[in-house]
Amino acid sequence: MDKLKIIITREEITKKIDELATEIRRDYRGKNPLLIGVLKGSFVFLSDLVRAMNIPAEIDFVRLASYGAGTESSGKIKLVQGLKTSIKGRHVLVVEDIVDGGLTVNFLLDYVKRRKPASLKLCTLFDKPSRRKVEVPIDYRGFTIPDAFVVGYGLDLDEKFRYLPDLCTLEE
Ligand code: IMP
Ligand code: MG
Repeated sequence: MDKLKIIITREEITKKIDELATEIRRDYRGKNPLLIGVLKGSFVFLSDLVRAMNIPAEIDFVRLASYGAGTESSGKIKLVQGLKTSIKGRHVLVVEDIVDGGLTVNFLLDYVKRRKPASLKLCTLFDKPSRRKVEVPIDYRGFTIPDAFVVGYGLDLDEKFRYLPDLCTLEE
């Protein structure tokens, strides 16, 4: 049986998102930014963030796959579903749930950059810097967390636990 332990509560997450949204709103007001969420994990964060921002913005999603089954990254990133929206000349904000090794988001930043946006920034709710394999430029960061596998608030383990409102660690 997996034992779940709450490490960041829904209230703490909400408060942090309000702070991030205030900063992002200030930086993007009048720019109609394009927010790109990375499926599936970031759908919960993106939906809370965009409402907390409360300025006109467009939303699109990409689906990338790096993790196979289990908790270790395969290191190989695949674009499973690309963008429907044109990026050229847009102010793009990539919205990630978590940056771990960094390979996934680096792949996406390259993908966006090649399509010539007017600007490109990265927002992640959770950051696990101790696990970084490549350098990642994070413009908006929610929480720095220790090196543990976490679930909840959109994050899964083999598609389980995404629905949990708090961020939890799994203990065996
Ligand atoms: P990276 O390429 O190692 O940075 O992997 C990033 C992706 O792996 C994230 O977008 C998540 O989907 C997934 N991931 C990394 N760490 C965790 C975790 O602790 N729990 C759940 N998913 C994770
Ligand atoms: Mg993800």
